[in-house]
Amino acid sequence: MNRTPVNLLVQGKAQFTGDLPLPAGTLHAAVATSPHAHATFTRIDTSAALREPGVVAVLTAADIPGINDIGNLFHDEPLLAHGRVECVGHPYALVFAGTADAAWRGAQLVSADWQQLPAIFEARAAFAAGSLIQPPRTFALGDVDAVWSACHTIVSGQVDIGSAEHVYLETQCALAIPRDDGGLKVHSATQSPSVVQKAVAHISSLPMHRVEIEVARLGGGFGGKEDQATLWACLASLAALKLQKPVRIWPDRRDDMRITGKRHPYSADYRLGLDADGKFMAYEAFLYQNAGCSADLSTAILERSLFHATNAYFIPNVRVTAASCRTHLPSNTAFRGFGAPQSIFVMECAIREAARQLQQPPEALQQRNLLQDGDTLPYGMSPQRAKALACWQALDTRFQPAAKRQEIAAWNSANPRFRKGLSLIPVCFGIGFTATLLNQAEALVHVYTDGSVSVTTGAVDMGQGVHEKIRRIMAQTLGIPGERIHVESTSTLRVANVSPTAASTGADLNGEAARQACLTIRHGLSQVAAEILGGDPEAIVFSDGWISIANTEFSLSWETLVSEAYARRTSLSALAHYATPGLHFNHDTNTGNPFAYHVYGAAMVESTVDILRGTGTIDRVSVVHDCGRSLDEMTDRGQIEGAVVQGIGWMTSEDIRHDANGCLLTDTLAGYKIPDLHAAPLMDIVLLEDADNPPGVLNSKAVGEPPLVYGLGAYFALQDAMLSWRPDALAEYHTPMTPERIFTWLHPGKDA
Ligand code: MTE
Ligand code: HPA
Ligand code: MOS
Repeated sequence: MNRTPVNLLVQGKAQFTGDLPLPAGTLHAAVATSPHAHATFTRIDTSAALREPGVVAVLTAADIPGINDIGNLFHDEPLLAHGRVECVGHPYALVFAGTADAAWRGAQLVSADWQQLPAIFEARAAFAAGSLIQPPRTFALGDVDAVWSACHTIVSGQVDIGSAEHVYLETQCALAIPRDDGGLKVHSATQSPSVVQKAVAHISSLPMHRVEIEVARLGGGFGGKEDQATLWACLASLAALKLQKPVRIWPDRRDDMRITGKRHPYSADYRLGLDADGKFMAYEAFLYQNAGCSADLSTAILERSLFHATNAYFIPNVRVTAASCRTHLPSNTAFRGFGAPQSIFVMECAIREAARQLQQPPEALQQRNLLQDGDTLPYGMSPQRAKALACWQALDTRFQPAAKRQEIAAWNSANPRFRKGLSLIPVCFGIGFTATLLNQAEALVHVYTDGSVSVTTGAVDMGQGVHEKIRRIMAQTLGIPGERIHVESTSTLRVANVSPTAASTGADLNGEAARQACLTIRHGLSQVAAEILGGDPEAIVFSDGWISIANTEFSLSWETLVSEAYARRTSLSALAHYATPGLHFNHDTNTGNPFAYHVYGAAMVESTVDILRGTGTIDRVSVVHDCGRSLDEMTDRGQIEGAVVQGIGWMTSEDIRHDANGCLLTDTLAGYKIPDLHAAPLMDIVLLEDADNPPGVLNSKAVGEPPLVYGLGAYFALQDAMLSWRPDALAEYHTPMTPERIFTWLHPGKDA
């Protein structure tokens, strides 16, 4: 009864895909991957691999029975390379053996007759060479060209934003099991079961109803399993069909880091114009996105960069253009924030430059320009119930940034070696898939005759707590204790055509569908209760496991009512569908209402830099965040804390490096430094009060991605401390702010 999913996790009993017991005769697969960033080949040599003890077979593109393509938005992604590889790590052959070790050793022995071709790794270089995923897109509001001449101050510059590795604890994994009817059951560690189902069907020429995808839970996804779990599930499926044996594929950390895509690096040029009062008048930016070698989700990510290009500010004249540039790196993919953090970073850099030129603290400019009801965003949407100012003011009252500034100034003038810095950062994040069609969900709820309840939705729990949120929503709706409800794995047999668990919409969409299903069941039960208790079905109250009629003493237990309903042949199951109302977006004009609502918040980040050694620490992060009416405060606080630390890692220590041939150098956690407990700052998190959100499920707001933006404050807080040492030097906007970068900026060579 008390074995909630959370307990399974903390007790270490929860089974992830790789923990599933293997059926007898399961084979293990490993991929042979390209050693070159760009090359053609005509012949694959598998002889050495086949001589490796334990190796059973090797498959190549020629063995694919269906179509050799797993692209989701664009069809530019072969499952196994055929004649051409476009990044180091590109899979071109699949090796099977009785053990994972033998398969891996076999994969290292496959080779091909490579003819190397020139490769491009930087977005700007790809753009110059015309190597684009699609033509550039522009979002515009007002008329920037007309107002530059009226601006009092104009700043411009260049920004470079680094990539990041997802480092989900559970590496990619899939187990495919052939069915007796020629179909497949695939356990896939994916955020997108239906995307995987479709791709498996595509490569195997099976109808989708013969392919079941099941996901119990993920050990983290962070976007890295939104599109890129598909490859592994398809490889395992291809093999399972060909060999008619269960097949598991489970790359180790190094292979996962080498082969899968990461957060998109961006380069940008910006220009910001202000009037004499510090009001933003015009903003122009050009964003170069490094998409890697295929489209994957890059164009959707690019679009979200455009949506969030002005962060939480109102700017009447805006023109932002973004280009998705094709390079010879593993295809970059979704990562918490989905392109928004990158364009928000560019905006925040522009504000820092303007503040320096005007000799004002950046927060003065930020506050003056925060978005309010009635303002228009660069895609034509006007925010309702905007909370940007409310969060900012609550941060101001609670954490006193102005006093903190003075303290820091006093400290810095007295301490030559350890300098402190401060930055504030707001966020405004649109909730909803920008592809309107994905904003739908279904839930299947069964009430069993003992009164226990099960639910299946499309929501995949990856540690963000969406299953617990769904359970709470249902418990509240049915008026029964949460322990009576079990949230099942996601299976494409039980609920079809599920949207990815992504865009922070998991609880909004699936939770609302589950609520609707509960309301349907409750409606039937109310009829039965009214017959038994007498009175109007509308007056039946469900609360604490008891069903009563308003203003009388009669009541029934939930269990009694359920068995009575069954005896009277009343349905105890419901399938409900929910589609977020009011969404539309015109891709020709780039205007519309793509989001159900926006999430707001503000953070203050404090840092210390050791001027002598060039090291920096993030000391404290204070946050006021808008969760609406929180569905689960502990979970929401955990999401904010995790997002902040993840953002700090991206901004300060996670430095992805390739050699000149496009080969990943930082392919282990020894060389790639993610934040640990010591890097996590003290955190004060305040949830905004009186924040009911009518468009959200039970007045809540989504939480998953937006707080990552607070982590960007780490860059600016470190930079603030550094500028107190070299106040007249040019600031650089190039993430991550590693100790190396801090040191070389603080102590330039003689000719710098
Ligand atoms: N939290 C944990 N613990 N693990 C994760 O993988 N993914 C993030 C966020 N929080 C993630 C997480 C991302 S990228 C998204 S889009 C949301 O959770 C997805 O879940 P939700 O829609 O239920 O919020
Ligand atoms: N966010 C996350 N994932 C997505 C989106 C989005 O807006 N659109 C398609 N996949
Ligand atoms: Mo999150 S990047 O939308 O999976």
